[in-house]
Amino acid sequence: MANSNHRAGSTTERFSQVGFIIAAIGSSVGLGNLWKFPYITGENGGAAFFLLFIVCLILVGLPVLLAELAIGRSGRASAASSFVRLGGGPVWRGAGLLQVLTPFLILSFYIIVVGWTLHYSILAFSGQLFANDDFGSTFTAFSSSYWPLIWQAVSMVLVGWVIAKGVSAGIEKFNKILIPAMAVLLVLLMIRSLTLPGASEGVSFFLQPDFSELSPESALIALGHAFFSLSLGMGILMTYGAYVDKRQSLGTATVAIGAGDLIYALIAGLIIFPTTFSFGIAPDEGASLVFIALPAAFSAMPLGWLFGGLFFVLLAIAAITSAVSILEVPVAFAKEQWGWSRTRSVWTVAVICFLFGVPLGLSNGLVPGLMIGGRNLFDWIDFITSNILLPLIGVLIAIFAGYRWKNVAEASGLRSSWFRLWLFSLRYIAPILMLFVLLYTSGVLRL
Ligand code: PFF
Repeated sequence: MANSNHRAGSTTERFSQVGFIIAAIGSSVGLGNLWKFPYITGENGGAAFFLLFIVCLILVGLPVLLAELAIGRSGRASAASSFVRLGGGPVWRGAGLLQVLTPFLILSFYIIVVGWTLHYSILAFSGQLFANDDFGSTFTAFSSSYWPLIWQAVSMVLVGWVIAKGVSAGIEKFNKILIPAMAVLLVLLMIRSLTLPGASEGVSFFLQPDFSELSPESALIALGHAFFSLSLGMGILMTYGAYVDKRQSLGTATVAIGAGDLIYALIAGLIIFPTTFSFGIAPDEGASLVFIALPAAFSAMPLGWLFGGLFFVLLAIAAITSAVSILEVPVAFAKEQWGWSRTRSVWTVAVICFLFGVPLGLSNGLVPGLMIGGRNLFDWIDFITSNILLPLIGVLIAIFAGYRWKNVAEASGLRSSWFRLWLFSLRYIAPILMLFVLLYTSGVLRL
């Protein structure tokens, strides 16, 4: 990348200090917090798992998060080039490219789910969702119609529109409006769920510590989720890091982002379990939790259309602010690599990503035959990215910052005692634990 384009291409766009933290929280708070975290916590020993999750966040998540930010800010380039700019050779160019490919693949299926949340917001507010009690069939009928495809396109246009406005007028402004709105919705829904009859049973399931449920497997699940939840390994924080002011404390930002992610996850659990338990509905995870189990609970409560509608808006906000952050990664790459304008980069990437996602969306319902080895295309891309590419990139980032990068101390801006702890994690804890996660999630290691 020694062309003039690249040299001239040092990013000049910047976040404000607060804007950056809010945008990073917007990225980290996503479907992972709302439809995955509560369930895996409830299944793996409640508060015991929550504590384990916090330990993983501190030992591995935050160190890698800080490494991504520091690399991004020092490289002032796209996620594909920062390693190289900081002294990495061709192998690191490959690692950088992987960091751009992975978010592209994730966005191709995540944007489909963004579309589902928008569709369900409208269904709930219009009351149509509650016209029929069989929420499983409603979801199947929706999945096998053309609607998901239309919503997929609408969602991509929406996310592209935000990114096209730029870092400060687009990403930052959008998050500054939506993240506080999301906080209000969360608190409102939490109050509603905690005041339902029998809510305490749900709270106990979520938070009562049961250390006997913890296993080595829970540790790997907690670690993998800490990583996903902070949006690590997706090139996002490296790309955002390139827009961070040089006076901003990265250590403080890291802690603020981690705390924000944790608080939003905790409140999500305090909404989901009291709601499902109060109506005797088995909590599930993923799509069946939010599109089947929760609508059943909302339909049974007074003003369910309102609370259900607000819940889907909450979900849509969480998903869109994450999708915005991930689209910026390939867009920053396209701008840098081909010298395109932001607008051209956004719409080129958005169209290609949408087209790539069409068969994935179809494989979910309309064309059920789009399967390979018992898994549909949507699930394959989810599996490959979440279980293989993300932990692999995590290992690479820790190795780069821990062993390869000469300027790491200065770039981190940490005081020497914190720096030593950070480097210790990057050298000895994060890469080894992430390697275990990789072996476990890819199916090589069985527990
Ligand atoms: N931290 C995000 C979440 O919990 O959903 C991870 C993420 C996924 C970010 C997909 C962005 C994205 F497009």
